[in-house]
Amino acid sequence: MNRDWTLIETLLPQDTNPAGSIFGGVLMSLMDKAAAITAWRYARCEVVTAGAEKIAFIRPVRLGEVVKVEARVVCTGRTSIDMTVVVEAENVFTGESREAARGFFTMVALDGSGKPAEVPPWDPRTDEERRLCEAARERRAKRRGGE
Ligand SMILES: CC(C)(COP(=O)(O)OP(=O)(O)OC[C@H]1O[C@@H](n2cnc3c(N)ncnc32)[C@H](O)[C@@H]1OP(=O)(O)O)[C@@H](O)C(=O)NCCC(=O)NCCS
Repeated sequence: MNRDWTLIETLLPQDTNPAGSIFGGVLMSLMDKAAAITAWRYARCEVVTAGAEKIAFIRPVRLGEVVKVEARVVCTGRTSIDMTVVVEAENVFTGESREAARGFFTMVALDGSGKPAEVPPWDPRTDEERRLCEAARERRAKRRGGE
């Protein structure tokens, strides 16, 4: 079972604002892409993004930095997959790397007719994985409470 995926990207001048920082929306798009690839590889079927929560931009990413986007499965429901996505940016000349953004994504698996489809149940293996899964279940319960 594939549980995580890391995208490595360099960004272009059109991805930046006039101050030379990468637009938040560009980073969110990369986060979504890493989450989708992870979900495809976990469920081995089509998926859609159902939600993204608590997206935090922690520090600006500068043009020229290399961006590493890691998506990791933390929990599953019947048809959905909860993930954490973390963005790190590295200055390739100094090697300095810092966390730039993070957030939670929920992807839903779809069957051939576009209906939500069951995903393999998550099997946490470590104390940290159990803690992350419990936190995801709490976010899920809060979402349901807010409906
Ligand atoms: C996500 C979507 C498939 C859910 O369909 P639905 O008919 O509401 O299906 P259900 O109510 O059976 O929910 C299916 C799962 O989605 C989850 N879900 C639905 N809305 C959600 C939301 N806003 N955030 C997180 N999870 C959500 C449910 O909790 C459920 O998970 P579970 O089976 O693990 O308990 C549907 O709303 C959709 O297609 N949305 C558009 C997705 C899209 O276009 N994304 C952008 C491009 S990829």
